[in-house]
Amino acid sequence: MSVTLTPKIRVESLSYSYRRRGSEDVQALDELNLTVGKGEFVSVVGPSGCGKSTLLRVLAGLQRPTGGSAGVLREDGARPLMAPVFQEYSIFPWRTVEDNVRLGLDAAKVPRAESNARVREWISRVGLTGFEKAYPSHLSGGMKQRVALARAFVLEPEVLLMDEPFAALDAQLRKVLQEELLGICQERDYTVFFVTHNLDEAILLSDRIALMTARPGRVEEVYDVPFGHPRTPDLRKSPEFVALEEQIWDRLRGEVQGGRK
Ligand SMILES: Nc1ncnc2c1ncn2[C@@H]1O[C@H](COP(=O)(O)OP(=O)(O)OP(=O)(O)O)[C@@H](O)[C@H]1O
Ligand SMILES: [Mg+2]
Repeated sequence: MSVTLTPKIRVESLSYSYRRRGSEDVQALDELNLTVGKGEFVSVVGPSGCGKSTLLRVLAGLQRPTGGSAGVLREDGARPLMAPVFQEYSIFPWRTVEDNVRLGLDAAKVPRAESNARVREWISRVGLTGFEKAYPSHLSGGMKQRVALARAFVLEPEVLLMDEPFAALDAQLRKVLQEELLGICQERDYTVFFVTHNLDEAILLSDRIALMTARPGRVEEVYDVPFGHPRTPDLRKSPEFVALEEQIWDRLRGEVQGGRK
């Protein structure tokens, strides 16, 4: 897919500084520009601490830019605009698995019969059938993250904002959910903003990959992923896949090392 698509997410000259009482501000983002087209899957990679989560929280409307702008265009009044999945498992400890997953559907006043069916379906798709009535304190880290994923997917929003959503999962489950996400995006038009440390995952899933500099984060380079849809995980074996992974890693390595100086 190309950048000529209708822009769905538009980030212009975005800066963000954390103000800290009694010490210097931390500038996380500096004049960052990025456009994500409608229906596009864009991954963001960059060294730890470069501002990826900050960018996602600004897009989610949880933090206000200190400079520039970040906007998400609403087009379909019938669908929720955005659903975020955060890096840390942000589920409510006092709600059961099914009540956590149901949360956004209740807020959107989806009738109970429909929400029950959708909740059941998503609990099954993330592999949590049998744990519907469990509380988060009885779940492993990976299971909590799957609850957070189901809570976002069940909403079928226009835009999914995902911050390292698979990082806490074991390698096998990570692969299963990568394929599930690939399938979901091929089934319905989602625009996805996806933060990951994993280049293999970024290439398999994305239409484009934005590489960020070390803090203060800017977009250093945007890579087109030269594979159409539908895709299968077999792509990993293609020479183009391996070459792109090496090309991005060469640049990323420089940012990681530069950021440590
Ligand atoms: N609440 C905060 N107060 C002060 N500084 C913060 C705060 N949150 C983040 N920062 C700083 O802002 C910078 C960017 O943080 P952010 O969490 O966005 O990075 P990241 O790219 O998501 O890192 P990681 O890959 O490790 O998740 C870091 O230097 C971090 O220390
Ligand atoms: Mg982060």
